[in-house]
Amino acid sequence: MTANFFDDLHDDNTPPTYRWFDGAKWKTSVNSHFIPVVSPIDHATLGRITVVTHGEIDTAIANAHLAQAAWADKTVMERGKVLHLAADWIREHESYLTTLLVSEIGKPTDEAKDEILRSADMIDYFAHEALHMKGEQLPSDAFPGYDKSKISIIERVPLGVVLAIAPFNYPVNLSVSKLAPALVTGNAVIYKPPTNGAISGLHLTQIFRKAGVPDHVLVAVTGSGEDIGDYLVAHPGIDMITFTGSSQIGKHAAGIAGMIPLLFECGGNNPALVLNDCNTEETALEIVKGAYSFAGQRCTAIKYVLGLSPDIERILPRVVELTKQKIKMGDPRSPETKSVGPLITESAAKEVEARILAAERAGAKIMLGGVRRGNYIEPTILDYAKPDMEIVRIETFGPVVSFIRVKNMEEAVEIVNRSTYGLQAAIYTADEGTGIRLAQKLHVGTVWINSKPQRGPDHFPFLGIKGSGVGVQGIGYSLEAMTRLKPIVLNKPQ
Ligand code: G3P
Repeated sequence: MTANFFDDLHDDNTPPTYRWFDGAKWKTSVNSHFIPVVSPIDHATLGRITVVTHGEIDTAIANAHLAQAAWADKTVMERGKVLHLAADWIREHESYLTTLLVSEIGKPTDEAKDEILRSADMIDYFAHEALHMKGEQLPSDAFPGYDKSKISIIERVPLGVVLAIAPFNYPVNLSVSKLAPALVTGNAVIYKPPTNGAISGLHLTQIFRKAGVPDHVLVAVTGSGEDIGDYLVAHPGIDMITFTGSSQIGKHAAGIAGMIPLLFECGGNNPALVLNDCNTEETALEIVKGAYSFAGQRCTAIKYVLGLSPDIERILPRVVELTKQKIKMGDPRSPETKSVGPLITESAAKEVEARILAAERAGAKIMLGGVRRGNYIEPTILDYAKPDMEIVRIETFGPVVSFIRVKNMEEAVEIVNRSTYGLQAAIYTADEGTGIRLAQKLHVGTVWINSKPQRGPDHFPFLGIKGSGVGVQGIGYSLEAMTRLKPIVLNKPQ
C-alpha cells in the first residue's frame, strides 16, 4: 500500500532517481544534472534528486499564480479537509516515513517517529485554528475630526505564492510548519526541501497532493541552494518567504529577497543560566536533554551553560553522569541508541571536532567525549570555556555543551546579550520571581524557566531576534504571517 502510494516519485532504478513535482505531474528535469542523497549512517546513496532549471521554476511559479486564486476561493472548511486527510495519511504511513527519515538524516528512530507524528498533529491543529481566523471592523469616529461616515472592514487574505525553504534537521516537521499554514489560508506554495531530507520532503508533497491539493497549488522543486536558492528567493513571482536555516544563509536571503514579508528561523546558540538555588538533578537533566537531542543538530539546543564556579562545580558532574547514563551514541536505526547518531556529513563533524580542539588549546577542559569517529562526535562536555571561543561564539551543530564560569549573573546577561544570536535561553532557579526578572533582561526570542529550550508546544509563539530570525511562528502566529490585512473602507455619509 505504502509503496504504491509513493510510486510516482521516482523511476525504477536502484538507487532511484527522484522527480520534482511541477504542481500537476512528477517529472525529471530537462536538466541532466542530479545530486546524490547520501545516508549519513553508512554513506549509501539513497537516490538522486533532479536539479530543476530556472525555466522550469518560472513556469511553475506562473502556474501557481493562476491556480492560487481558485484555491483561495474555496472555503476554509474545504482547505481544512485536505489538511486533515494529509494528517491522516502521515499517520497511516508513519512507519515507512520514519524509516525513510532515519536513513536520510540519521535521526534516531524514536526522535524520527516523534517528528512524523508531531507533524500530523500540527497539520490538524492548523486546520482547526484556521476556522477561527477573523478580521475586524473599525468605526471612523474614534479619531479626532471624523464622524461616523466611514467603516473599515478589515479582512485577512492570503499573500499569494509563498516560497517555503526547509532545513535538513526536521525535513518533515519544518516543512509542515510552512506548508500547512500557507495552504490552509489560501496561498500557493513553491516548496524547496533540503538535499538531505529531499526524499522525505517529496513524500510529504505526495501526501498533500493525494489529500486533494489542486493542480499547481503546491510545487516541489529540488536542487542545491547554489543551483536554485538565490534564483527562487529573488524571483519576482514570490510574494512571501518562509525559511529555516543558518543565520548566514538567512541574512543573505533577506538581502536579496526584495520588499516582501519574511518569516525566517535561523541559528540558535542558546545559553542556559544556572542560579545558585537551582535544583541540581532537575537542572542537569534538562541540560542533558537540551544539549543532545538529535546530536545537538537543533537550533533550540542548549549550547553553553553560564554560572558561578560553585554552581558549575555542583551541576557539571551530574551533567557528565547523566550524559553517560542517558545518552548513547550509535546507529540511529538501533533502539539502543539514545539521541546521538551521526552528524549530517563528515565535514560537519570535522568542523565540530576542530572547534572542540581549538577550545581545548585555548584553555577549555574536555570533561567528556571530544572524540570524532567518521561523522560521529561523542557527546562532549567542556569546562572553562570562554565566550570568545568559536565553539561558544558560533552555533555548533553537534553534541557539545560548554560550561562558562562567570563572576556574577550580570556578566552572564552581558554575554547572552552581546551574542549575535537571539533565539532562546533557559534559566534554572527555585525562585520563579528571580527567573522572570532575569528573563526580562535577556535579548532573545523566548526564555524558558526550569525547562530546556524548545520550539513546542507548537501553538506557542516561536521567534528569534538578531541573527536568529525575523517574524513569529506557532500555529496561530504562522497563520497570521501567511496572510495580510485587507481593509475595505465603506464611506456612507450620514
Ligand atoms: O532546530 C529547529 C527547531 O525548530 C527545533 O525544534 O522542537 O526540537 O525544539 P524543537
